[in-house]
Amino acid sequence: MIKKNGRIDRETVQKILDTADIVDVVSDFVTLKRRGANYIGLCPFHNERTPSFSVSKSKGICKCFSCGKGGSPVNFIMEHEKMSFNEALRYLAKKYHIEIKEHELTDAEREEESDRENMFNVNEFALAHFEHNLTDTEEGRDIGYSYFRERGINDAAIKRFRLGYSIEKGNELLRQAKERGYNEKYLIDTGLVARREDGSIYDRFRGRVIYPVHTISGKVVAFGGRTLRSDKKMAKYVNSPESIIYSKSRELYGLYQAKKSISEKNKCILVEGYMDVISMSQSGIENVVASSGTSLTQGQIRLIHRFTDNVTLIYDSDPAGIKASLRGIDLLLAEGLNMKVVLLPDGDDPDSFAQNHPASEVEEYISTHETDFIRFKTEILLKDAANDPIARSKAISDIVRSISVIPDDIVRSLYVKECSRALDIDEKVLLLQIKKYVTERAEQQAQQNLRDKARASLSDAGNPSSSQATDGNIPADAGTNAPAEATEATATVGTAFIQHDKSRAGILAPFEHDIARYIVRYGMVELPTFDDDDRQVNIRVIDYIMQEFAFDNITFCNPIYSRIVEECRKLIDSDWESDRAAAEAASLQQRAEEWEKGTAEIRNTAISLEQISQKEKMLLETIDNAHYNRLDQQTEMFFIRHLASSPDDDLRRTVTQMASSKHKLSKVHSKYSHIESEKEKLDELLPRAIYALKDAMLQYDIRNKRDELKQVAKAGDMDKVKAIMLDIADLDKLRRDYAQKLGDRVILPKG
Ligand code: CTP
Ligand code: MN
Repeated sequence: MIKKNGRIDRETVQKILDTADIVDVVSDFVTLKRRGANYIGLCPFHNERTPSFSVSKSKGICKCFSCGKGGSPVNFIMEHEKMSFNEALRYLAKKYHIEIKEHELTDAEREEESDRENMFNVNEFALAHFEHNLTDTEEGRDIGYSYFRERGINDAAIKRFRLGYSIEKGNELLRQAKERGYNEKYLIDTGLVARREDGSIYDRFRGRVIYPVHTISGKVVAFGGRTLRSDKKMAKYVNSPESIIYSKSRELYGLYQAKKSISEKNKCILVEGYMDVISMSQSGIENVVASSGTSLTQGQIRLIHRFTDNVTLIYDSDPAGIKASLRGIDLLLAEGLNMKVVLLPDGDDPDSFAQNHPASEVEEYISTHETDFIRFKTEILLKDAANDPIARSKAISDIVRSISVIPDDIVRSLYVKECSRALDIDEKVLLLQIKKYVTERAEQQAQQNLRDKARASLSDAGNPSSSQATDGNIPADAGTNAPAEATEATATVGTAFIQHDKSRAGILAPFEHDIARYIVRYGMVELPTFDDDDRQVNIRVIDYIMQEFAFDNITFCNPIYSRIVEECRKLIDSDWESDRAAAEAASLQQRAEEWEKGTAEIRNTAISLEQISQKEKMLLETIDNAHYNRLDQQTEMFFIRHLASSPDDDLRRTVTQMASSKHKLSKVHSKYSHIESEKEKLDELLPRAIYALKDAMLQYDIRNKRDELKQVAKAGDMDKVKAIMLDIADLDKLRRDYAQKLGDRVILPKG
């Protein structure tokens, strides 16, 4: 057995650290989009629909400004793959083809490996065993290999998906694994071997072809075994059970092989089964994954969402296939994904279709038959409802409900238009219905939150150790085992005093206030930035600020401001969507009334048809402007409106004061002949405000060091004097670098 845990020599470690590119490493798990100087994607560590996970290529780090996770490439792999430092290094070495010399494991070393690692090792062994059986044993060749051949699977696909075969008789896997020294415990934990009631154990997979299931990073976590017999009493599929390394609802079959293509094509094709994935992929359409027969889970959808916003479902056109595709729709929509559906010709599934048509025809078929979900759902549901008015109204509710879960306002309003046309129902009616659904869900969510809170406070009360350490007791592990390699070198700048130094908080307060005020006033306003292809990608003010904070290791040290930001982030999750939908519905209603009133007036006063059409054009412009102004107003008032009624006195007062204060125009403005509004200048004001805070932090640290220097000089300790002077020089340099970099930091790239 190969050693997996020994020390890696220094030189190799350095080489790995130097080679690993953060954007490259993270891109194996999330599709990143360029945003200004950084990259951004959906955080792989917590659930979210709008991206907070930021990657800085130049700094070599990633960080989620929402949950705080991230770090260097090694930290990222450790966290994401739940690996030790050494394991993560090995992962990166493999990725970059850096050689690490291995030696055989001693028993003692084997003991030390974690359960997870042991289970992965056993699965790795089983994978090789099944692959070997398929091509290098007589039984495997005659039965397994010839079966795949009959189904049109070629050698390349067999290799790509690591297909295998399990020997029918004699518990071959168990026997060989024991011979090689694998612990029975891990064979059972992974489910490769099962235990009978009488205590004896046996191979779970026997006489079946094997489909291994890989994680997103390519580790084998499970196997699916298909019987080759038509015996109805025999289970068609046997699968690995759930374990500490395998949760069925969190994996997607084929994703490891498909992710690159999904990211490149910016689209994921979703099918039902193993063979569908393999046949499509073999025919050249590689961006395909399978939900493995069960309904999609949110976890699986989020895996897809890391790589693309676009999903196409391909199902058989039999009633079961149609039902299956309808089931997934609302979940996918609620996740913010763009959904298309393709139904195959009668009697075909993706597997047979890909086997019987060249790739170009399959692609052609998909692109010409891709239906967006509204049309799909409308056709299917209305066809069933035919002349039954009750069924028709039920169908319409169903469709409208689907639209109501779409989080993006613009996408949602497009569907409302489309739906209004398709069903011949007034947009206003649809919007009102949608608003009802949104409110309903928001209320349910609020109830749920209350229940969660109640539960949390109950368990807190009964369990004092779960709350903060009291009466000066320091938690047992505080500071003792600081994870040396997990902290960033830059983290030492300015953050050391946060808890203890009142005067620091005092000094930084005005700078923090300034930034918190931008968040409260303009947090949901979107600023334009551009990606690699010069396409506009907007970023919200609050997200921009949080992203910059994450990269520069800034946190507010005055609790009032961190509380404000925290509350704002909560509000986005709990209230933004429903507020927005309500504002939109109300504003559209007002727009319709204004139009009616205005046109009536025009017809009463205008003297020619020409004049009527001209006046109507102007009217339209006016009421549209008013409509967008109302929406802008809602955007800008969102945080203020909610926080102004916060039960937290301090917070409410601060926010109210921020909302009413007139910002003194800074020097930036005097360059321009006309005075622009603060909102229009955010792209310059925000980087400056952040810079000012950071600079104040550095200045404070420098002053502290100078004081220290005086003390040390008095005591005559020359070594210490030198050390501190070097520190000061470093801080000074940081200040200069930072000032210089401010040039690159403005949100809009200089044209
Ligand atoms: N599946 C599973 N476990 C089961 C049944 C089904 O994992 N007990 C998953 C498999 O991924 C399978 C898919 O559901 O590929 C669809 O099941 P089914 O239609 O029964 O199989 P096919 O994929 O059509 O298999 P084949 O074409 O080989 O008959
Ligand atoms: Mn099939």
